[in-house]
Amino acid sequence: MKRILICTGTGCVSSGSRKLTAKLTEELEKRGLVHDYSIVTTGCHGFCEQGPIMIVEPEGVFYCRVDAEDVEEVVESHLVNGQIVERLLYTDPGSKEKIKHYNDITFYNKQKRIVLQRCGHINPESIDDYLGTNGYEGFKRALTMKPMEIIEEVKQSGLRGRGGAGFPTGLKWEFAYKAEGDKKYVVCNADEGDPGAFMDRSILEGDPHAVIEGMLIAAYAIGADEGYVYVRAEYPLATKRLAIAIEQAEERGFLGDNILGSGFNFHLKIKAGAGAFVCGEETALLASIEGKRGMPRVRPPFPAQKGLWGKPTNINNVETFANVPHILRNGAQWYSSIGTEKSKGTKVFALTGKLKNTGLAEVPMGITMREIIFDIGGGIQGDKEFKAVQIGGPSGGCLTKDHLDLPIDYDSLTQAGAMMGSGGLVVMDETTCMVDVARFFLRFTQAESCGKCTPCREGTKRMLEILTRIVEGKGTEEDLEKLEKLGKIIKATSLCGLGQTAPNPVLTTLRYFRHEYEAHIKEKRCPAGACKDLILYRIDPEKCTGCGRCAKKCPSGAISGQLKEVHVIDVDKCTKCNTCYEVCRFGAVYKG
Ligand SMILES: Cc1cc2nc3c(=O)[nH]c(=O)nc-3n(C[C@H](O)[C@H](O)[C@H](O)COP(=O)(O)O)c2cc1C
Ligand code: SF4
Ligand code: SF4
Ligand code: FES
Repeated sequence: MKRILICTGTGCVSSGSRKLTAKLTEELEKRGLVHDYSIVTTGCHGFCEQGPIMIVEPEGVFYCRVDAEDVEEVVESHLVNGQIVERLLYTDPGSKEKIKHYNDITFYNKQKRIVLQRCGHINPESIDDYLGTNGYEGFKRALTMKPMEIIEEVKQSGLRGRGGAGFPTGLKWEFAYKAEGDKKYVVCNADEGDPGAFMDRSILEGDPHAVIEGMLIAAYAIGADEGYVYVRAEYPLATKRLAIAIEQAEERGFLGDNILGSGFNFHLKIKAGAGAFVCGEETALLASIEGKRGMPRVRPPFPAQKGLWGKPTNINNVETFANVPHILRNGAQWYSSIGTEKSKGTKVFALTGKLKNTGLAEVPMGITMREIIFDIGGGIQGDKEFKAVQIGGPSGGCLTKDHLDLPIDYDSLTQAGAMMGSGGLVVMDETTCMVDVARFFLRFTQAESCGKCTPCREGTKRMLEILTRIVEGKGTEEDLEKLEKLGKIIKATSLCGLGQTAPNPVLTTLRYFRHEYEAHIKEKRCPAGACKDLILYRIDPEKCTGCGRCAKKCPSGAISGQLKEVHVIDVDKCTKCNTCYEVCRFGAVYKG
């Protein structure tokens, strides 16, 4: 039987894939095709902006933005008459060609999918789909090994934590294994608070058993019999699919007591988080599971020694756990052959911003930023100039075109002043003001500071005030020194990673885009033309044809002029809404 894959990840569900599935089911029944085709509802394919996505197998024909109204045509033309529906194919943003097959789309064919290999290809609500794709094989192998042999295998693989800090996973497991305790826990961090990041959500929605299997292997290795997955409550679909997967794993004897007759017990529960960014920090997360206010505490003792309810606890990120079954099944040598000397395997990035292709991309460590942005991402929207990329979420840093050929790994990014973080990647073009970007990220971390320690609570507020002054054209030259000094102090004296990294966007933009700060302060000018207080909208008389389009659209009645004569903007009436700039077909409106 041929398969039709329909994406039912959060993105495609919100763009109508449930209706699409219902309509296709109805149409296949109506035409008596139910024995020829089976519909498989999958998790996210990573290309949500093109959703709803439908793939017809075995050919791998990739249809995008498919509506319920398109179903009759797809069935009649493709399924019955073998004619591909051209208009629903993906258009390559570079060549403008229609691409028929999934494997020929550059967004996909430059990726190396290990963690995401089942996402979009199996039904995440079916344990049989998981078992049919080598699911639980890694765990079965682990059961034949001694705990220290498993830990050694994970150490040899070179796997490092995907939640931000990049700590070696095997070493972390060894600490928990060696910690004294009558009871131990394994915790999965699925808090995923970085704005724009959705890799962990997609893994849980598309391949939840892989996370359970990774946790089982960890639990067996360190000697834990209980575990928690801490998922933010804003992820209802991920939570639902994880709950289904846990129930199925219990029914099939992969979770519970005496698992697969081995004598090993492991019970797994889900804990919903309320969405505070700081609750992603491991000690705050553990406090939250215990029912306390989610606030970080001093380490040591680390969770491996004193974690949940004071017991040794191993905590890893979703993507980290999802890598583990592949390592156990294929061996450490296979895994460590991918990536760079010190960063092994792959990393999933959430590509957002001014790219032609946005979405989730899993790439081998060591790939360059240029390949991610221009091959997978398809380049910059509107063929504008690439300006910068913020990597590592709100705690990361902004890199420039000088870093485009930098091989991406934990160490190269840290050296450049940014960080891998959890994998957020926001691409900016020439119209982005870097001072404003720094302010945007700092505003986020400032609002999310838990307030426990003074440098983070007060220092980020002062930095934010200074940045606001600068974008309003009220900054002074001393402000730059103050920002640098404050940033360094906050980094050095804050208790947790939130405060220790919050100044990064400001410090990296000061390092690489200092001239933009200086233009705001000395010339009262925003070079990107983005800071409202520093720009005036004007019409270039040389370019204005007097078409009157801007005057018609201006919501403030600020534009005057006779038809076919040069138009003028009254700066006192103008509210800087940007409409005239967007609607003028002759490029006559400019921001000066
Ligand atoms: C403010 C803050 C937020 C964090 N948020 C997350 C998160 O959402 N998900 C995550 O896995 N790790 C997050 N971390 C990192 C965790 O503290 C911890 O290092 C991680 O869960 C360990 O897993 P790993 O070794 O597999 O990376 C955050 C850290 C800080 C300081
Ligand atoms: S650094 Fe900030 S977020 Fe972290 S404990 Fe201190 S006040 Fe809270
Ligand atoms: S920016 Fe908006 S308010 Fe100002 S002139 Fe243009 S359309 Fe009118
Ligand atoms: S939800 Fe369908 S591609 Fe992401």
